[in-house]
Amino acid sequence: KDLPNNKESAKKSGFRFYMEKEIYEQYDVLKENTLGRNTEYGIHFEELDREFFEGINNIIISACGTSYHAGLVGKYLLERDAKIRTNVEVASELRYREPLLTKDTLFVVISQSGETADTLETLKMAKKAGLKTLALCNVDNSSIVREADRTILLRAGIEKGVASTKAFATQVMTLWMLSNYLAKKNEYHIINEAIEVTKVDATLHEKIKRLSKRYLHGHGFFYIGRDIFFPLALEGALKLKEISYIHAEGYPAGEMKHGPIALADPDLYVVALLSKNILFEKTKSNIEELVARDATVLTISSEYIEMTDDFVKINDTSHPMVEFFEMMVVTQLLAMEVAIRMGNDVDMPRNLAKSVTVE
Ligand code: G6P
Repeated sequence: KDLPNNKESAKKSGFRFYMEKEIYEQYDVLKENTLGRNTEYGIHFEELDREFFEGINNIIISACGTSYHAGLVGKYLLERDAKIRTNVEVASELRYREPLLTKDTLFVVISQSGETADTLETLKMAKKAGLKTLALCNVDNSSIVREADRTILLRAGIEKGVASTKAFATQVMTLWMLSNYLAKKNEYHIINEAIEVTKVDATLHEKIKRLSKRYLHGHGFFYIGRDIFFPLALEGALKLKEISYIHAEGYPAGEMKHGPIALADPDLYVVALLSKNILFEKTKSNIEELVARDATVLTISSEYIEMTDDFVKINDTSHPMVEFFEMMVVTQLLAMEVAIRMGNDVDMPRNLAKSVTVE
């Protein structure tokens, strides 16, 4: 019988929530996002040419929410690979301060919807100051796309879940490709490897579902990581907050000792993003410090470490961006499973809107 509920679940293709469907779609969406762009001969963007970047010595990235977190990942990549000084700004702050906007700066806005009021205003401000502008956006013909000089479309498809997942994946991927493009670096195979690991493994999902029941009653979460895993920690914590209404913070692992570690006790939950490839020993000792103070720690890593309460194993790889994409999926699933156990509607979290078009 064609009850409205059945129709609704048909649209979700058997998934419990759009968010779940969108997490599972990431593999396909990333293929689409990189199609014709990530080639064996290096990165190619139909939308860009080398001339556009002439005279550019700096990048400013402006965005809100999840898109801002993607921007932070971009900073690590653009500075390390392309050697371009990059600053990332929360749009609602940038628009009301008096930033120094010099003409050798490329102004990049990142937005899923293309309609976020604060982001759009910063774009207008940059244009007024005579800067070249580039949008990374998921919605063609949106206000931001119309305003920017150039646009790279994210090709994530329609994202329904208020908590952004697949759009974030395409934003990070696009920034990675952009930094390869500017660095004239070819990571064709590594990019493909990173897409592969976003395929959700049923056993892994089951494990996270089971684990999630142990993480419902604490007094809050810290997500910790270093380097590109710090912005991922911020994003992991944001996902959890948005849909489970549990307090969560993302923190640079090395900064915990400067205050937050005071909160450590068995009811403090820590999700540790432990990269094998970047600052492994240092992050591990940050985890040890938390364990010694009795925090309850869940480690996500390819390297098994015995001391923590729980462990989610990811694939062994020699490239941090591959780790990044797999850890991203784990944090998304974890947030979703915790929120589902709390009985929340993860697609329509209270107090939040998919797109914030007013101040
Ligand atoms: C809202 C959404 C977030 C999103 C942010 C920026 O707060 O709930 O998921 O990250 O806006 O949106 P944008 O469309 O500009 O990426």
